[in-house]
Amino acid sequence: MATASPEVADSQACCSSSVDSVAAMAAVVRSGLSRSPKQLPPWLFYDEAGSLLFEDITALPEYYLTRTERALLEKHAGEMIAAAAEGHRLKVAELGAGSADKTRTLLAAALARQGEVEYQPIDVSVTALELARERIEQELPGVFVSPQVADYTQGMEFEACDEDECRLVLSIGSSIGNFSRGEAEELLSRLGSALQPGDSLLLGVDLAPSQDGKSKSALIAAYDDAQGVTAQFNKNLLVRLNRELDADFDLQKFEHQIRWNEEHSRIEMHLNSLCEQAVHIGALQTTVSFAEGETIHTENSCKYRSGEVEEMLNAAGFEATRRWSDADGWFAVYLAKRL
Ligand code: AVJ
Repeated sequence: MATASPEVADSQACCSSSVDSVAAMAAVVRSGLSRSPKQLPPWLFYDEAGSLLFEDITALPEYYLTRTERALLEKHAGEMIAAAAEGHRLKVAELGAGSADKTRTLLAAALARQGEVEYQPIDVSVTALELARERIEQELPGVFVSPQVADYTQGMEFEACDEDECRLVLSIGSSIGNFSRGEAEELLSRLGSALQPGDSLLLGVDLAPSQDGKSKSALIAAYDDAQGVTAQFNKNLLVRLNRELDADFDLQKFEHQIRWNEEHSRIEMHLNSLCEQAVHIGALQTTVSFAEGETIHTENSCKYRSGEVEEMLNAAGFEATRRWSDADGWFAVYLAKRL
């Protein structure tokens, strides 16, 4: 098999549209483990156990991302909504909505302004969308939820707005970080093409370490917590392959490994083989060998410098009009207008 360049491999950053099918999984595992260096796409983390582990991660003391972003949204929701609306009625869509937990403060702010809100969460997980719908309709009467089961990385389409309306698209949770910089820009360009001038994007971005702000060690700790929850999340991938593809990964023989890649300004998550070993994958009728110290690269999480995000938004046809950040400058939320 030809060795794919890292750029090609990166394009598996998000979920496959047939995320539920074993066939899709078998295909990405076969190709990911036969290239060098070995890698698997992060969407494989999110089976039921993995989704629960991710929820646990968001509550860890070291994982500042979720609570920092939530605090920004809670503090500035009114301003964010007003800046997006500019006198229009807003329709809200969300890319990769998941449980839509942090979205509720924004929806409440929109409700307070306009009485009723249409909310279109887009996600590959039917279960997550149904849960989100139930919770939101119960807690926020006046929000009308129309879930869309789709992989937004494969394309986006939005219904036209009325003249007194405009659309606000949410991409929060720093999920943009899973894409390479090139892919992120491409995704934003495609989003731009699906929107109308005056529509906006609210984008949550985790920031790069800096001399006077976030330290590398704090950033690394967010992905290598003391309780080992992130390690469990990473290794759950192997548990999943054992169960769903009839593999025989020995969890004792792999360790969770976090690296800071300075050149690409990204956190990398790996599974490091602690010895020379061979792993059989029944469903693929294949055996994969590992050298001692050889890793499976399981995730990238890109960290952006301020200025870089504005440039990327510009290149995609947006203009960043507002930016909210915590006092320490660890995380930022951008509001960008489609030009
Ligand atoms: C869901 C992609 C934002 O990169 O911080 C957390 C996933 N991986 N801990 C991130 C993750 C390990 C998370 N994102």
